[in-house]
Amino acid sequence: MSQEFWDFYASVAEKLLQREVSFRRMFEHLDRIEASVVIVETGCVRNPDPWAMTGEGQSTLLFDKYVNARGDDSRAYSVDISADAVRVCRSLVSNKVEVHQGDSVGYLNQLTRRLLGQGQRIDLFYLDSFDVDYNYWFPSAAHHLKELVAAWRCVGPNTLVVVDDCPVSANLVADEQGSYQLDRFYRPVVGGKGRLVAEFADQVGARLAFSHYQHGWTGF
Ligand SMILES: C[S@@+](CC[C@H](N)C(=O)[O-])C[C@H]1O[C@@H](n2cnc3c(N)ncnc32)[C@H](O)[C@@H]1O
Repeated sequence: MSQEFWDFYASVAEKLLQREVSFRRMFEHLDRIEASVVIVETGCVRNPDPWAMTGEGQSTLLFDKYVNARGDDSRAYSVDISADAVRVCRSLVSNKVEVHQGDSVGYLNQLTRRLLGQGQRIDLFYLDSFDVDYNYWFPSAAHHLKELVAAWRCVGPNTLVVVDDCPVSANLVADEQGSYQLDRFYRPVVGGKGRLVAEFADQVGARLAFSHYQHGWTGF
């Protein structure tokens, strides 16, 4: 554990809003690993003023701080399809983060062949690419499931897989007073970007590590 990192984290925690609780869990997970760690992310920081409370996660900046603070061979890898986002991100992070421009699925397939060749697995796999439309969630959710498939060779039981932008989704039914009640016949499910990763996690018996605005699982 690096006190320098946790001091930094405390200084930005308030700006992480609904993601604060789960980012903390991610770094606690990484702190439990003694060897150097591998973080892989899809969808990089794209805001040139990243702490401006835009509602985005500032994820790549946090991962950069973390791998640097460990002071070992820890590294982070990020991919984004947007040349602008990649340019912004590269200007904000150190050379301990590889930021690749391209489609995430193809990149993950290549990256994980490379990592496996070096005897490495992924310790934290953070999925936050294809923006979600909560009313038409399928294209985004399917893309994030494809990312999991593309990286599967480097996902093991100790990999923490996290999906951003996936609050629990439920059907609400209005009563005669106009108050909403949960639809008793429809179980609330993980929504948004994580909808299909969550179904898959459930079907293969992965362990839910946390359930907030972001969801995380181990035990794949
Ligand atoms: C929500 S933003 C990422 C935010 C960032 N993780 C953060 O915390 O600040 C989503 C990013 O995914 C990228 N994206 C969308 N489709 C993609 C794809 N097929 N492959 C890679 N990146 C993609 C977008 O260009 C965008 O920059």
